[in-house]
Amino acid sequence: MAQQVRGVVARSKGEPVSVETIVVPDPGPGEALVKVQTCGVCHTDLHYREGGINDEFPFLLGHEAAGTVESVGEGVTEVEPGDFVILNWRAVCGQCRACARGRPWYCFDTHNAAAPMTLADGTELSPALGIGAFAEKTLVAAGQCTKVRSVRPEAAGLLGCGIMAGIGAAINTGNVGRGDSVAVIGCGGVGNAAVLGARLAGASKIIAVDIDDRKLTQAGKLGATHTVNGNNEDAVEAVRKLTGGFGADVAIDAVGRPETWQQAFYARDHAGTVVLVGVPTPDMRLDMPMIDFFSRGGSLKSSWYGDCLPSRDFPMLVELYRQGRLDLDSFVSETIALDEVEAAFDKMHHGDVLRSVVVL
Ligand SMILES: NC(=O)c1ccc[n+]([C@@H]2O[C@H](COP(=O)([O-])OP(=O)(O)OC[C@H]3O[C@@H](n4cnc5c(N)ncnc54)[C@H](O)[C@@H]3O)[C@@H](O)[C@H]2O)c1
Ligand SMILES: [Zn+2]
Ligand SMILES: [Zn+2]
Repeated sequence: MAQQVRGVVARSKGEPVSVETIVVPDPGPGEALVKVQTCGVCHTDLHYREGGINDEFPFLLGHEAAGTVESVGEGVTEVEPGDFVILNWRAVCGQCRACARGRPWYCFDTHNAAAPMTLADGTELSPALGIGAFAEKTLVAAGQCTKVRSVRPEAAGLLGCGIMAGIGAAINTGNVGRGDSVAVIGCGGVGNAAVLGARLAGASKIIAVDIDDRKLTQAGKLGATHTVNGNNEDAVEAVRKLTGGFGADVAIDAVGRPETWQQAFYARDHAGTVVLVGVPTPDMRLDMPMIDFFSRGGSLKSSWYGDCLPSRDFPMLVELYRQGRLDLDSFVSETIALDEVEAAFDKMHHGDVLRSVVVL
């Protein structure tokens, strides 16, 4: 029988979010009903609320979550009731052209639940990234549940989006290796996770760039060897100066604006790699001399979800966290209740937090 729970809804563009009654259907074939324990507030939730992703309002926000499986539908073998899981937005199909070529992190047909969650009046909700976890319970495709060892959910859930995206931007997309120099532009949750990823991969120089000193202090704690405040000095010049005049081997834009992408582009060494992990809005444009693309060589990449494969990466990162080798706890700036998401957007906007985490 469908259940009624509370969830955070963005009804229209730019309007404050509200806590509403959500109707969650029973899991159908291949689906799982998850009792959400925690869900981090990601900048992408704010992009949704501002209409920057698409216009499919109303949205059920939240997508960085950990919880336990309450029930499963027909034919589900991956998880069973009671399992501790991190929710993912990349339940790969195994059959599309990307999966068939052995590159499932580019899967073109990822799975979500078929039956819609609705408002009490029957209005269909669009769950953020096919998850919708600022809610006491949510319905997902079983493949969106990645079973991991039981650890602190506030920390583990962050691997479900931003922290995985940042770590993966460095280790998967950027392919950072031992001894590399890495510049990370924008050190919010995602950028600081890229700092952590670069450290994990053995980078010898990690230059964190932000316009907020508080973020740079955190970057230093997470492994940045140098910090640059882009308000006080030219970020490109500063990165070059710190890398013998050449630029970094890998430059990661974790803001997602034309000006920060160009900083990453020019702060990169010849034949180096630029990784865009911040999400631009549809109106943004780049205008650059094309000869600069040509003459500098290297590769320009974007990183959706850190090119992660949840089934491969989540259990591995949870294990490193358990061993004290991956500091996820530092990203949990505060824990909040469901009705404090709007206030958390405000804190994010003002740079007060890396992650506010809703605890249910
Ligand atoms: N690619 C993905 O799969 C993926 C996943 C999650 C989030 N994201 C995106 O990553 C971006 C960052 O997300 P977040 O949650 O870390 O956001 P956040 O708001 O916590 O962090 C953004 C950071 O950028 C800094 N910043 C802003 N303008 C800057 C500038 N001109 N120069 C240097 N620093 C600047 C801010 O001070 C802040 O520290 C967002 O666009 C988000 O949508 C992408
Ligand atoms: Zn596929
Ligand atoms: Zn996110």
